[in-house]
Parts: sequence; structure tokens; C-alpha cells
Amino acid sequence: RSYEYIEVSEPRPGVGQVTLNRPKALNALCTPLIVELNAALREFQQSPTVAAIVLTGSAKAFAAGADIKEMAPLAFSEAYTTSFIESWSELTTALKKPLIAAVSGHALGGGCELALMADVLYCTTTANFGQPEIKLGTIPGAGGSQRLTRAVGKSKAMELILTGKSFSGEEAERWGVAARVFPSHEALMEGALKTAETIAGYSKVAVQAAKEVVNKSQDLPLRDGVEFERRVFHSLFGSQDQKIGMKAFAEKKKAEWSHQ
Ligand code: HXC
Repeated sequence: RSYEYIEVSEPRPGVGQVTLNRPKALNALCTPLIVELNAALREFQQSPTVAAIVLTGSAKAFAAGADIKEMAPLAFSEAYTTSFIESWSELTTALKKPLIAAVSGHALGGGCELALMADVLYCTTTANFGQPEIKLGTIPGAGGSQRLTRAVGKSKAMELILTGKSFSGEEAERWGVAARVFPSHEALMEGALKTAETIAGYSKVAVQAAKEVVNKSQDLPLRDGVEFERRVFHSLFGSQDQKIGMKAFAEKKKAEWSHQ
């Protein structure tokens, strides 16, 4: 299957990669691009060969935002009745496999929000994050006010969203927005693919459960989250892979997962 605005590949065993590829607009996230991204992620979700996914852009831009030229003429009634931007969240609901965002260059507005939707965020030192919507007379619309606030705390998120000022990859790492920061786009991609390959080497059942319980921490009060985790932990006593993993440890062997 070929796409106009993205590239799709399987660069390592078990690893799918989506590369945003709209260089003329610094990967501005027009609706057709999001439609393609959702289709590619759905395919990876269904693929028996892909177990972890890397989402990236170019060395210059992860994505410079939602497409301002597309949004400029939009009326309230159109945005409201089509639930404009809601489809962006599909990747947070439909994708059960881990998604690593590898961010170089600009990750602004919707680009920053898209990166924040990933399960793990890696970036380069020179990455340029920000929510500049205020400069356009609007506000973040793809979860930025919620996810950035959970990531950096209220005061810093307020400052960023009210001033529209950017923050660097170094800052993203220091503030916990990014899990790791790399000196170049090449090093970033190597790091992201390696992590995806590591994840893809584990039991698919355990990986999906791990992602599910960590994500619950973003929605549930602590007591409910801990209880949910324990229930899922209990349920894994019913998986073959938990028996395989623990037996392999006792026998000092490498686990051969059944993914069941
Ligand atoms: C549409 C965009 C774009 C965008 C860049 N381009 N960002 N087109 N939507 N978000 C286009 C430019 O118009 C230009 O097209 C080409 O990409 C190259 O951009 P330049 O500005 O010439 O590049 P440069 O001088 O290097 O500056 C890079 C930049 C700047 C700092 C990233 O492009 C910029 O400020 N972009 C807008 C960033 C932004 O405000 N993002 C938030 C959008 S609002 P032409 O045809 O002129 O060559 C948003 C809402 C989210 O995301 C809420 C819902 C998701």
C-alpha cells in the first residue's frame, strides 16, 4: 500500500516505522495525512509481524503543527459537527502496541501534541517543542493542555501555553517530556529502533498489559490504578508466557515466547 504523506516500513525484526513525509509543509498535519497515519497504524496493529512502532519525521521537522491553511477558513459549526481533530486520538485508543515518537526539529502545536500521545518520546538535543497556538489566536486542540500539564506540571505548562514559547530537546528530557535525548537524528533513530526491537522481543501479551496499566495511571486515582494493575497482574498468571518466562529464569535459559 502506498501513501502520499507518510512512509511505512519494517526496518527491524518486529518493528514498524511510520515516517511523516510532507517536507514542503514541514510535515504540517493536514487531515489526509492523519487519515493515512491512522490507516498505517491500524495495519501495524493487525500485523502479526509488527510488535512495536516508531513514529518519526525528518531531521528538520517532526511536524510543524496542524495545517494552518486548512484550519484558517473553518467555521465553528463545521469544526463542531465534524468533530475536527477527534480522529487524531485514534492512535491512543486503537493502538495497543507500543508507539515510540522519535522527534527531531520542529514539534509545534499539533506536532507537539502528536508526540505527547506516544507511549515513549525520544528526541534530539535540537528538537524544538512548543504550543504556539496562542500566537494564532487559538489554543491547543489535540490534548496539549492536558498531556503537557501532566508531563511538566501546571505552572510550566501554563507558561508555555500562555506565551507560546518553544522548549528544546534538552529541556524536554530534563522535564520528563522525553525519556531520552540524542545528539543527532541518526543517533535518535538508532536509539528508537533499538528500544522498539527490545520491546518486540518480549511477550506480546505482557507488553500489551504493561502499556495498558501504565496508561491507566493517567486516568485513574492512585488507589484505583493500583487495584487495576493488581487485577491485570493476576490475570497474567493465566498466560503461557508468564510460565515460560519464569521457567526460563529458573533454568537459566532464554525465554521462547508463545505470545499466549
Ligand atoms: C501549514 C505550514 C505549517 C503549518 C509550516 N508550514 N508550518 N503550513 N501549517 N503548521 C509551511 C510554511 O507555510 C511554508 O510553506 C513551509 O511550511 C516552510 O515553512 P517556513 O515557515 O518557510 O519555514 P521556517 O522559516 O524554517 O520556519 C519554520 C517554523 C514556521 C518556525 C516551524 O514554519 C512556523 O512557525 N510554522 C507554524 C508553527 C505553528 O504555529 N504551529 C501550530 C499550528 S496550530 P510555503 O508554501 O510558504 O513554502 C496547531 C493547532 C493544534 O497546530 C490544535 C489541533 C491539533
